[in-house]
Amino acid sequence: MRWLIEIGAGRRPSRGAARLTTVRSAVIAHTHGAMARADRTHLFGRHTMNIDRPMADSSGLTRRGFMHSSAALAAALAAGGVVLPAVSRAAAPAKGTLKVGVIGCGGRGRGAAANILAASPDTEVVALGDIFPERVATALSQLAKLDPGQASRVKVTQDRCFTGFDSYAGVLGAGVDVVILATPPGFRPAHFEAAINAGKHVFMEKPVAVDPAGVRRVIEAARAAKDKSCSVVAGTQRRHEVCYHEAKKRIDDGAIGDVVGASVYWNQGGLWKVDPRSEWSDMEWQIRNWLYFAWLSGDHIVEQHVHNLDIGAWYLGDHPVSCSGMGGRQVRTAPEYGHVFDHFAVEYEYAGGRRMHSYCRQIDGCTSRVEEIIHGTKGYARLSQFGTAEIHGQNAWKWRGEQTDPYTQEHVDLVASITGTGPYLNHGERIAESTLLAIMGRMSAYTGKTVSWKQAMESRLDLTPPAMEFGPLPTPPVPVPGREPLV
Ligand SMILES: NC(=O)c1ccc[n+]([C@@H]2O[C@H](COP(=O)([O-])OP(=O)(O)OC[C@H]3O[C@@H](n4cnc5c(N)ncnc54)[C@H](O)[C@@H]3O)[C@@H](O)[C@H]2O)c1
Repeated sequence: MRWLIEIGAGRRPSRGAARLTTVRSAVIAHTHGAMARADRTHLFGRHTMNIDRPMADSSGLTRRGFMHSSAALAAALAAGGVVLPAVSRAAAPAKGTLKVGVIGCGGRGRGAAANILAASPDTEVVALGDIFPERVATALSQLAKLDPGQASRVKVTQDRCFTGFDSYAGVLGAGVDVVILATPPGFRPAHFEAAINAGKHVFMEKPVAVDPAGVRRVIEAARAAKDKSCSVVAGTQRRHEVCYHEAKKRIDDGAIGDVVGASVYWNQGGLWKVDPRSEWSDMEWQIRNWLYFAWLSGDHIVEQHVHNLDIGAWYLGDHPVSCSGMGGRQVRTAPEYGHVFDHFAVEYEYAGGRRMHSYCRQIDGCTSRVEEIIHGTKGYARLSQFGTAEIHGQNAWKWRGEQTDPYTQEHVDLVASITGTGPYLNHGERIAESTLLAIMGRMSAYTGKTVSWKQAMESRLDLTPPAMEFGPLPTPPVPVPGREPLV
């Protein structure tokens, strides 16, 4: 088995940016669980199923389109069917085969379904849900192409395929034990809450909200999950890499002296976009082009940079007192880019004068940088996904251990939590707080105001549109710092 895993974007770039770029990448050859890495040239932003953001679908969602897509779905159905912190467990662990449902069958939904099948032979994917029928059909046909050992455990029947805004409810009611939540994050709080109310174990992609109201909803549901012994794992895969844990252990033992701050980066080129079509309502277009609408993605500081902010939060061991950010929209100014920014820089201030500096940019033709630096009084650590962990200074060290695929590892850890063969995991509150970290940075950059953690946590800001239905939904104005109100 062989995976091509790319460092950096993990996303499909904008069409103009789809070029051969020599950046560090890893080809991980997997032989009986052992992995080796090598450098090579690759198409930046092209992905495996694990980290892909697929080509956005080009078909429309008129009523006719729905029926046509449903036929495609029927045809696809006919064709084929680390050591982590523990929390005490109240109920007995699950036994037997775990039945998995997927809500949001795009790049990550399909990737995570493949990952959980790879993580344990005692898993089956039995239900799929997506707002768009053709996405379910694509997921079915792609899952049928997995290794036979995994494809044979895709047991999705037509009556367990669900489409539309309420497809999540169909999946939750289809006899599943575990759900993968992989829609755009604007829907995550409602889907997570419903999953926990239904007593399901959850793998949910980051980020888990786009506004403070959503963050609070996730925190509450995560607390309820604890009472019900529902396992919850978030798609922050760096937390499932041994190298990050090894570096943390060394830093906790004083390898870089006192930790005084962090610098975190996700700077890359532009991503894909979907142009509007006359047959699509505003709502349909926005959901298909979701990266560029804050109510769906949270803007890229939330949608993508949350990974690096989450690592900063982990290593600083705290949340900030306040932050002050700036940003804007220098290049992606056309209407098809909705109303989001293309660059942000935020200073987070922590108790005791510690600081985290955060930078994220999605602009073609600029230097790419995706990593986290932890600063100490006696040195610093450099960390990056897929096995980079180094300490510089008097206690210099470099991680040279075996690298596992973190996208599969997060499901190995989830299954161990559910079955009781590993510690009980509930990442709900933690990922909600990391999501708020990103949201408060966006709030500060949009408004030009300093934002305290307390203000962000208690904010009334709720970006949910007035009605969850296909119809008119104007693009909000691009925020102008100094004029945008801080809610
Ligand atoms: N951990 C990672 O490295 C990583 C990488 C990529 C994406 N992600 C995250 O995964 C999530 C999904 O991203 P993606 O790249 O798969 O996007 P995508 O556009 O490929 O897939 C999203 C899917 O959700 C569906 N959807 C939209 N609204 C829905 C609704 N209300 N109900 C049901 N289905 C709905 C869409 O039709 C689409 O098929 C995002 O939160 C993203 O930030 C994480």
